[in-house]
Amino acid sequence: ISNEDLYRPNFHFSPEKGWMNDPNGMFYYNGYYHLYFQHYPDGTTWGPMHWGHAISTDLFNWKEQPIALFPDELGYIFSGSAVVDIENTSSFGVDGKTPIVAIYTSHDPKKEKTGDIDVENQSIAYSLDEGLTWTKYEGNPVLKNPGVRDFRDPKVSWDDERKRWNMVVAAGQEIQFYISKDLKSWEKLTSFGEGIGNHSGVWECPDLFQLPVIGSSEKKWVLLVSINPGGPNTGSATQYFVGDFNGSNFIVDESFKEEMKREHSFWVDHGRDNYAGVTFSNIENKDGGKLFMGWMSNWLYANEVPTEKWRSATTTARTLELVKGKNTYRLIANPVPELHEFKSKKLESLDVVLEGNTLLTTSKAIDFTSAQINFKVEDLVDGVYTFELSNSEGDSLRFGYDATKGNYFVDRNKAGITDFSNKFSDRIALAPRISNHKNWTGTIILDKTSIELFFDNGQTVMTEIFFPKAPFDSFYFKAPSDEYNLEYIDIQQLKFNLN
Ligand code: FRU
Repeated sequence: ISNEDLYRPNFHFSPEKGWMNDPNGMFYYNGYYHLYFQHYPDGTTWGPMHWGHAISTDLFNWKEQPIALFPDELGYIFSGSAVVDIENTSSFGVDGKTPIVAIYTSHDPKKEKTGDIDVENQSIAYSLDEGLTWTKYEGNPVLKNPGVRDFRDPKVSWDDERKRWNMVVAAGQEIQFYISKDLKSWEKLTSFGEGIGNHSGVWECPDLFQLPVIGSSEKKWVLLVSINPGGPNTGSATQYFVGDFNGSNFIVDESFKEEMKREHSFWVDHGRDNYAGVTFSNIENKDGGKLFMGWMSNWLYANEVPTEKWRSATTTARTLELVKGKNTYRLIANPVPELHEFKSKKLESLDVVLEGNTLLTTSKAIDFTSAQINFKVEDLVDGVYTFELSNSEGDSLRFGYDATKGNYFVDRNKAGITDFSNKFSDRIALAPRISNHKNWTGTIILDKTSIELFFDNGQTVMTEIFFPKAPFDSFYFKAPSDEYNLEYIDIQQLKFNLN
């Protein structure tokens, strides 16, 4: 079985060849989702960055397109965003065509070699054919480096209340806020970050957006900040803050600040493999939720994972929503509803009390390299609830909930090839359970080399990758006692009409 067959994801986007990292410039327009991405087409490790491109009508079947942006005299094309400029504020639109405008970082490697620090500046490019081909603006860069070594990853969004564009951009260990009327000239407002949040690494890939609080008429602003290193289970990860954006400042909500003193679990994802994720432009769900995708790897070992032709994939697209818990607001993430359309068979649907130590299936009736499992356990008791996926090679991936300690866990230490990096399997990934509900629900999404866990309706999320020596084909669930109530477990095949 070839490396391609064993590790090429079934329904997560991966580039045909070469290196990929962050998703960039994601937007929706005219029936298509667009994904651009940090790409080095000529090698399978990080190199001179281009923007690769892929399109999809359903967020799961992606078709790679020609490279969108190539490095130029201003440097490599680092991460950034894209907006649909419906009102042609940029005046790039001609003949009534709606311009798509990309805002990205130009990173100058030559200047970097001379030891200069002002090597990152913000540039723009526009497309008049719905994101397929791009023209770089002759006035680049549009936002010059203010004298910081790291100044990158502009995320722009339309501020409907104030009728202007907002930009958040990472600058060292803070996030700076800028505004513009035309996407070409930018004015600085303020910066955010001093004395708050995790500062054990450089801040990258911010995103700022407003979300309704589910079940109320309240709206809050959410700021995502990726950090490398400093993640909850080592390496790179994405933290978030909830507050208000008053037109010039982002102010973290008092209740959120209080809760941050008690715990440090405000992570978009607690697993090791969801980084640099941001939201799509020009689309939200009917409740105002945002669409999000991340890079499904970690800077700790991304350059070493054992794929041959390509490296990395994106996460499953998720909906981000906001709920108000007992003490403060929480971001919740769940797979997009489009996923439901791909379920072809329901393997198990059990409304019974099962005995402990239950082997659910070793059946060949389901292919665990494309599956979704939904379950509910009622009346949690102390002890460890363990799921296990395994294969004939003796590889095993274990995950579940330690109810005594209150931790979710993913243990990939014996899940296949791990020796490519000593940082890949040096620990079991843990995540504190936020919910204190006596019942436990979860959604498990499986592809060939990834697991995405959405527990308690998306309150705690864990995404991890692994590289088994053969596909996992048996699935096991073990409860701490014989007396437990598995209210249901639905194991569903995901069928994608890939072409
Ligand atoms: C995040 C990041 C960004 C940068 C890009 C370079 O993973 O470091 O800050 O723009 O990757 O490829």
